[in-house]
Amino acid sequence: MVAQRSSVDAVTLSQKRILLVIGGGIAAYKSLDLIRRLRERGAAVRCVLTAGAQQFITPLAAAALSGTRAHTDLFDREDEADIGHIRLARDADAVVVAPATANLMAKMAGGHADDLASTVLLATTLPILMAPAMNVRMWLHPATQRNLSVLRADGVTVVGPNEGAMAEAEFGPGRMAEPLEIVAALERLVGRSGTGAAGPLAGKRVLVTSGPTHEPIDPVRYIANRSSGRQGHAIAAAAAAAGAEVTLVSGPVSLPDPPGVRTVHVESARDMLAAVEAALPVDVGVFAAAVADWRTAENAAQKLKKDGKLPPPLKLVENPDILATIAHRDTGRPRLVIGFAAETENVIEHARRKLARKGCDLIVANDVAPGTGVMGGAHNTVHLVTRDTVESWPTLGKDEVARRLVERIATLLGS
Ligand code: C5P
Repeated sequence: MVAQRSSVDAVTLSQKRILLVIGGGIAAYKSLDLIRRLRERGAAVRCVLTAGAQQFITPLAAAALSGTRAHTDLFDREDEADIGHIRLARDADAVVVAPATANLMAKMAGGHADDLASTVLLATTLPILMAPAMNVRMWLHPATQRNLSVLRADGVTVVGPNEGAMAEAEFGPGRMAEPLEIVAALERLVGRSGTGAAGPLAGKRVLVTSGPTHEPIDPVRYIANRSSGRQGHAIAAAAAAAGAEVTLVSGPVSLPDPPGVRTVHVESARDMLAAVEAALPVDVGVFAAAVADWRTAENAAQKLKKDGKLPPPLKLVENPDILATIAHRDTGRPRLVIGFAAETENVIEHARRKLARKGCDLIVANDVAPGTGVMGGAHNTVHLVTRDTVESWPTLGKDEVARRLVERIATLLGS
């Protein structure tokens, strides 16, 4: 008989002990698949189910798939004698919370401990990976976004949520990341990467800037632009998938953090420059952010009032050029510095001049004239411009542009 090949060749989570906390949402059914995916990769999985989770899946199903008893109660005589919540919180290499419901996130952010799941999460010092899943309005609610910021600041790694159709016939961000996306993020978190370890950028550090910047006028108003961050985020994800250690410095976007990427969130150009400098040294810098060229000379401490007088004059001053600053560094310049040039006319010519002026090695130039749909759209038509060459790519999805660009980066670093 021919031995069956496993569908998973890389035993990337071998000997890792994962505590999987399953919250109460419809996405809990995907967590059963997640248990299988983790075990296929050699991990030992122990599950904690909240009361809500048990409305969707049974402890028996989680136990059958994990091969060990699933835990549900804080005051469980058998449990306390057997393993207990403090040991549950310690005897693992990482904790995964999937699905992380709005309620579970709120409890984590507030430090509540009124059931087994929240108590374990408060007691643990292990790395935590959280996969939020909830209705789009609950996700976008300021309270959830506030909790998300608190959890990020507490060091929780977040994967997803993805955009898509929701169970309640709504559309938007809120779908839990797919089990394999969660696995990829976990592989990064516990320090081993699957495809990545053998990928063409293994051992390389890559920095990517993405999204727009917001330049405050007063506490409620700001100057912004139409960048969605999709291209930059896709590049960060593709570099991580190719094995790089990636830092993404992102302006305000409505995209989820890419899995397996350290994402630093900033608002203004000056914050972005500081975050970029803090991320050095790196092998490659990809500057895809649409940084505001100007900011207001003064950021009013209070909201500007109409007062029936003339509109306030907005005096603008120039922002630091992040790309040029990094490309012109005497020490600690990345080996490869890549800029973007979004132009509405004479694309190649402008890109060439920009390449020289900013001191970068390669410019990815694209035509963003009104009607091209590039700004915020899913596709991009780019030209790779160096000092001596121009290479034009066909119109491609932004993910495919990212994949090809990462391939090119690997080639350039090798040569
Ligand atoms: O000068 P322009 O904004 O067209 O240049 C675009 C390139 O320069 C992009 O790579 C962008 O990320 C980068 N840039 C920057 N800091 C600025 C302005 C642009 O890093 N202040």
